[in-house]
Amino acid sequence: MLKGKKIVIGITGSIAAYKIPFLVRLLVKEEVDVRVIMTPAAKDFVTPLTMATLSQHPVVTLPFKTENGDWNNHVELGQWADAMIFAPVTANTLGKMAHGIADNFVVTAYLSAKCPVFIAPAMDLDMYAHPSTQNNINILKSFGNFIIEPQIGELASGLSGPGRLEEPEAILQIVREHFMHRSDLGKKKILITAGPTHEKIDPVRFLGNYSTGKMGFLLAEEAAARGAEVTLVAGPTYLTIRHPHVKRLDVVSAEEMFETCMREAPLADIVIMAAAVADYTCVQKSDAKLKKSSQPFSLELSPTKDILKEMGKLKLKNQILVGFALETDNELEHAKNKLITKNLDFIVLNSLNDKGAGFGLNTNKITIIDRSGPVHYGELQSKPIVAAEIIDFIVKNRTYQA
Ligand code: CTP
Repeated sequence: MLKGKKIVIGITGSIAAYKIPFLVRLLVKEEVDVRVIMTPAAKDFVTPLTMATLSQHPVVTLPFKTENGDWNNHVELGQWADAMIFAPVTANTLGKMAHGIADNFVVTAYLSAKCPVFIAPAMDLDMYAHPSTQNNINILKSFGNFIIEPQIGELASGLSGPGRLEEPEAILQIVREHFMHRSDLGKKKILITAGPTHEKIDPVRFLGNYSTGKMGFLLAEEAAARGAEVTLVAGPTYLTIRHPHVKRLDVVSAEEMFETCMREAPLADIVIMAAAVADYTCVQKSDAKLKKSSQPFSLELSPTKDILKEMGKLKLKNQILVGFALETDNELEHAKNKLITKNLDFIVLNSLNDKGAGFGLNTNKITIIDRSGPVHYGELQSKPIVAAEIIDFIVKNRTYQA
């Protein structure tokens, strides 16, 4: 599973660093290409010579210059790696990672990572329980990093509690499972829509909504990371896509989104309609700026096409159609109604009554309703984790046919 993968191991100054030579040996045995980087403090616990010998590559510990004056390129390392494992991570380094304090090579490499990042904290139980540490862990989770929770047990201080670095075999297993699960959408074609639509009033004004597109963009990144070929139809947004296997098609209005989706949907195995499409558009779109007057003003609006409903009518055999429902009242009932009337397989319900869920936030809480019956109630979590939760649900249930 891990053979041929390129993995960076970042070690920081904790006594638990003594476990990392074992982790590196296990990875090398699996034919992983391992590069070790260390903070200066880590060298007090395990030597660069040990790590270089086991990884079969020089170890980088100096911030930016080698003894010859060459630059240690943390950016290149960030591009090179298929995964980065930071273990053990002290409370100090957790804080630096969470707040972008790049005063050593390990944190600069972390900030340059374009790959999945695993962070395994290890410290004394009171440091671990401190709200500062817990806040930093939550921040790192909100970035989409995977936290390898410390274990409960005897600590170097003689105290007992949570704070022990996870064992090397268990860390290896977590990374293995991650890659196993990361290829579960291999070659599937997925159409995802994201963001708002803008309905033109005149050259300087439009009708829009508060959607930022975050959830749809994260779904696109997640699906692409799991091997899918993704087409992302994006309404107006400043967001960018990092994954090279996402084909992005920008649209502005509901009509443009409709046309693009109708063209792309027949090619898709899975369609996820996360965009907040305007339900109405202006009957008159003025090419000149409308002038104000002291009189009341009204716009005549006409309904837009319901893109998802149209796709539901044209749904191909074995195609999976997933809709979103944003509700403020009678949430489950409204969502179930949309699931049936639009001929969907799943609907992802967002309630604006849930604290921490909604437009532009970094967290979300969803409920997924499966047409065949089951209802999945999610927790309030960071949006990257919610994106993975939605994709997991679809993958687990994709043999289901409406
Ligand atoms: N949708 C769509 N085309 C539209 C409106 C909505 O494809 N013109 C899709 C959305 O992308 C979402 C689902 O339909 O996946 C439900 O959207 P939502 O705004 O919650 O519901 P509506 O169907 O628009 O109904 P209402 O606004 O009355 O709740």
